Amino acid sequence: MTTRREGIGTRLVHGGRRPEWTQGLINPPVARASTMVFPTLAALEKGRPGEGRHFYGRYGGPTQWALAEALTELEPGAVGTGLYPSGVAAVAAALLACVKAGDHVLMVDTAYDPTRAMAESLLAPMGVETEFYDPLIGARIARLMRPNTAVVLMESPGSLTFEVQDVPAIVSVAKAASALTIFDNTWATPLRFRTIERGIDLSVQAITKYIGGHSDLMAGAVTAGPQAWERLQRTSKALGHCLSPDDAFLAARGLRTLHIRLDAHEAGALTIARWLAKHPLVDRVLHPALPSCPGHEHFTRDFTGGTGLFAFTLKRPGKGRLAAMVDGLKLFAMGYSWGGFESLALPVNPKPIRTATKWEANGPTIRLSVGLEDPADLIADLEAGLARFEAALP
Ligand SMILES: Cc1ncc(COP(=O)(O)O)c(C=O)c1O
Repeated sequence: MTTRREGIGTRLVHGGRRPEWTQGLINPPVARASTMVFPTLAALEKGRPGEGRHFYGRYGGPTQWALAEALTELEPGAVGTGLYPSGVAAVAAALLACVKAGDHVLMVDTAYDPTRAMAESLLAPMGVETEFYDPLIGARIARLMRPNTAVVLMESPGSLTFEVQDVPAIVSVAKAASALTIFDNTWATPLRFRTIERGIDLSVQAITKYIGGHSDLMAGAVTAGPQAWERLQRTSKALGHCLSPDDAFLAARGLRTLHIRLDAHEAGALTIARWLAKHPLVDRVLHPALPSCPGHEHFTRDFTGGTGLFAFTLKRPGKGRLAAMVDGLKLFAMGYSWGGFESLALPVNPKPIRTATKWEANGPTIRLSVGLEDPADLIADLEAGLARFEAALP
């Protein structure tokens, strides 16, 4: 086990690598198992699930325990981490851990679309009402709190549009009202924004993105503070959630290099965002580190840096122009994920998935996940794409 005083690189490299789990190897091996057998009746009767104790496959083995421990160590003040088969499963488990029939949920308007959809598909049938709030609401969220508000779900920067919330103000209102807080921290990871020490109760990671980092696994995690760990464990156990040892292994392997990759993603994205901001066809660049991004002041105050995902809007409309631009991109591919080593460009339309706020843009909005290619090559790809946009007939 490492101590919290060590640097982030050291914690990423050494986290969760207990000798009893690694058995002399560098990585805890992939321990595939459903059944753990007990040698005696006494051992069988004494058996209980728990970290570091074999019991039954759903409760994991060394591969999963090591990943969970490494993730917990990244969040000072955290008590434990639950692992899930996807980021969406992690969000759902966090929500279900906090609510009961009759409760009220405040959810940011800019939450990831499938998270938003849980209001209708998961919470409403349970008798839980969800209200969406403006990501720039800050302390004014106090006006939306009700006696039955059980949880505030934040995601910052916002999905697709990157608004940065005033998290300390929102957390302090939630605490005063005894509501729990969930924060989807997939964009920043604990390396750029530490959630638990800011008083957040449940911190979600879609491991699928930066922690995995290689576009080859689906996984999620929820790291919990002291007020929420027991209820998260109870809910996850009831839901039967677990993560396969193969995916836990890949996730842990990604984790070891997260700091190096994030630095490169961040640098590449900033170079490209600044270049785009000067391009005559570009209207707005929505990158939290640029002053043009709503909530930029919260980003500079609260985050230790950025990552590789941002968006920009174009000045002129035109689906044909957009197709001419993106269909011909050589390095940026189109796909629904982000956080991998490869760059992605995704045309998006946030308008129909906002209810508390209004999304307006003069032209198409494109989200970029800047990978690990040379930024100069990525800029050349975008430059040629923007030239095609300009040249194409509407
Ligand atoms: C912010 C955010 N949270 C959660 C998820 C869900 O992760 P997964 O695709 O692993 O379910 C995503 C996926 O894009 C996301 O962008």
